[in-house]
Amino acid sequence: MILTADFHSHILPGIDDGAQTVDESLKMLDMMGQPFEDGSHYVVATPHFKYHNVDDDLINQYISDRNISFAKLKSADAKKSKNIILGSEVALGRALTECNNLDKLVMGSSNIIMLEMPFQPYKPWMYEVVEKVRYTYKLTPMIAHFERYASLYRREDYAELFEFPDAIFQFNASSLKVRKLRKLIISAIESGLPVVMGSDCHDTKSRIPDYHDGMHILDKKLDEEAFYYFRNMSENIIMEMK
Ligand SMILES: [Fe+2]
Repeated sequence: MILTADFHSHILPGIDDGAQTVDESLKMLDMMGQPFEDGSHYVVATPHFKYHNVDDDLINQYISDRNISFAKLKSADAKKSKNIILGSEVALGRALTECNNLDKLVMGSSNIIMLEMPFQPYKPWMYEVVEKVRYTYKLTPMIAHFERYASLYRREDYAELFEFPDAIFQFNASSLKVRKLRKLIISAIESGLPVVMGSDCHDTKSRIPDYHDGMHILDKKLDEEAFYYFRNMSENIIMEMK
């Protein structure tokens, strides 16, 4: 059985701008379909962690809120909550370099941390923060929805980011429906980068858990070898987290 994983979701209830209630979370989990029911599909819950100033207390508060939210979901449906892995979507800012317990924000049992780049043109300080996360804190950065910056980043900005040692690049399944973004994603996969998919789902209506729609598109657009490589990559990374 091949394991698949939605690496980016706002599935936990009442913690950010994603699911607002336990009921909504459960409906979103239902939308993940049969592979989730069967236990071969995982979902990483990545609520926003977005602060200008980051300190230990804020991180502790966030972890406590996330645990409470997850506990509510588990007590409503323990079976459906089984394949949820806790993570976070950490907004990249200069303040991250002054924080000593970023490791609390990793994804599951891995040392991978999801970083959301600011929605603005690429600047050297951003790379420096990613470097600090990698080399000082010894965490592996996963860049959230890397394709979202296509209108802001120049070709050479992407080239620099893609060369970052050991980084993982996540894209949103819905971006595969946009030609320009699909091209960027497909070429990143075909060039052998560690690329994974997430739905970045927030609700049941417009930002839905569409991971499997994305898989269908990839199956059609990638050749067999690239598709196999992509699935294997996902499986290896989720094994590190679970
Ligand atoms: Fe997100």
